[in-house]
Amino acid sequence: MIDFNGKRALIFGVASETSIAWSITEWVIKAGGSVVLVYQKRFLSRIMQLTKDVEGIEGLHECDVSFEDQVKNLFNNLEGRFDMIVHSIGFAPASALSKPTIFTTEEDFNTTMIISAYSLQRIARHAMRVLNPNSSMITLTYLAATRLVDGYRIMSVAKAALESFVRELSPILGAAGHRINAISAGPIRTLAASGIPGFDNILGYMDKTTPLKRAVVQEDVAKAAIFLMSELASGITGQTIFVDSGYSIVGVPNVTD
Ligand SMILES: NC(=O)c1ccc[n+]([C@@H]2O[C@H](COP(=O)([O-])OP(=O)(O)OC[C@H]3O[C@@H](n4cnc5c(N)ncnc54)[C@H](O)[C@@H]3O)[C@@H](O)[C@H]2O)c1
Repeated sequence: MIDFNGKRALIFGVASETSIAWSITEWVIKAGGSVVLVYQKRFLSRIMQLTKDVEGIEGLHECDVSFEDQVKNLFNNLEGRFDMIVHSIGFAPASALSKPTIFTTEEDFNTTMIISAYSLQRIARHAMRVLNPNSSMITLTYLAATRLVDGYRIMSVAKAALESFVRELSPILGAAGHRINAISAGPIRTLAASGIPGFDNILGYMDKTTPLKRAVVQEDVAKAAIFLMSELASGITGQTIFVDSGYSIVGVPNVTD
């Protein structure tokens, strides 16, 4: 069993009880760790509701990762050091998701890339000075980084950059003994997912086409996350690990059984 007693996680990306980051929070706490949550201002009331009476949550901080100053201030105001960092952040403007990628404006492209990809680099850079030895970071990505997924549009480009950032950051973090990995999660119904055109179609595909004959749920991802952030994964870095009921290995699915 994974033992996070005495370990601290800084978790970005809880917006509601359906957030993948919330399930990771619960599993870090279940393993004995403590958590500091970083949330976006617009989700303040949901966060207060969600975290009240939850033991193991040490603190709440507001931060919009689009802004360098806010991330800098966040890290200046954090107390103590951390063993785990979770980056579970993604965003593309509705105006970009509603149009074919060829019509994405420069402004929407920049917004998507800064929040969904560059923020990982921004957080990693500031985090270096608050990490304990042998710390671990994870981020969340999706199959559309490497395959064509109808409806995912400009987010596909951002996820490709994010996965590349994971590889690029791995030797930099590795020089200090830290690891970084991405989890490529299968489709899960969350607030972010509700903005993807045709999401129900993508999700509906899972029961029939995956080797496990089901879609993954938040908990499937959270369990992989705590493994990757634990000592059990001490030799794994720079990787994109699929937690998708095996969907990513399917060529022609068996739809007859
Ligand atoms: N749900 C899925 O099907 C799925 C599949 C694969 C990967 N992912 C990825 O998982 C991650 C978490 O998404 P989720 O599905 O749990 O949805 P979610 O809506 O619960 O989480 C998205 C988070 O991004 C945060 N965020 C957006 N813009 C931000 C900003 N400017 N500053 C700070 N935080 C910001 C939001 O506050 C929210 O907490 C995302 O990277 C998403 O792309 C989701």
